[in-house]
Amino acid sequence: MFSEKFLKRLIKTNGVTVLTGAGISAESGVPTFRGKDGLWKNRDVMQMATQQTLKSDPELFWEFYNWRRELLKTVKPNLGHYALVDLEKQFYDFNLITQNVDNLHFIAGNTKVLELHGNISKTICNECGHEAEENEDVSGAVPVCSQCGGVMRPGVVLFGESLPQKALSDAQEAAATCEVFFSIGTSAVVEPAASLPYIAKGNGAYLIEINTERTPLSEHADEVIIGKAGETLPYLIMALDRY
Ligand code: APR
Repeated sequence: MFSEKFLKRLIKTNGVTVLTGAGISAESGVPTFRGKDGLWKNRDVMQMATQQTLKSDPELFWEFYNWRRELLKTVKPNLGHYALVDLEKQFYDFNLITQNVDNLHFIAGNTKVLELHGNISKTICNECGHEAEENEDVSGAVPVCSQCGGVMRPGVVLFGESLPQKALSDAQEAAATCEVFFSIGTSAVVEPAASLPYIAKGNGAYLIEINTERTPLSEHADEVIIGKAGETLPYLIMALDRY
């Protein structure tokens, strides 16, 4: 599955950076954003996750996010997530960047995760930025800020919003300085995360993509593994154990 050339290179590497997208959580039962999963009550999920919907119809916005939160409470990390915990242990300079907001990398046991799109378990005020404490009641149909009375929203980046600056600059640095870059389960089309593999490759990293289908990134990758993350990543760990 993985080439000898790649495995030999990986084993000698210190710096490994991994970018994950919705595909790594698909086998845990978290719906992806595009394709057949991209609808909620016949509405485009990308339309739901916007400031426009929060402002024009906060009840609908929160109904969508409460549905996603409830769904995420029932899911668990899969073998793909756990394989990345193993990888973190094997490399001195390991960076995990995710576009997922589902917290599953932390739950699996990765200690350092750059969450480019935030974390859905957090609730913040859309007006003043106050983050709700864990014991604060945010269960209302439209939660309201205890500090300023503004409408709250989940701690995720909505479509059209900019990414958290620190996480993004750390991710760009991790891409620029690694020797091997994995792009796993991402359609590789949403900027600025989509640029990270190109930053890595431009700085000489070996670029490997794992996805159930080819993406716009595939033709630029040094190696493309077509398969499920939950099956191919455990195989990679076993292959590394043999070296
Ligand atoms: N293993 C590996 N890849 C998979 C698997 C799997 N089991 N299942 C699906 N995939 C692939 C799909 O082929 C697709 O290329 O995962 C990718 C998921 O793509 P998207 O749904 O577009 O998710 P992502 O790339 O994370 O999207 C980026 O855009 O929609 C926004 O904010 C949202 O964080 C998301 C961002």
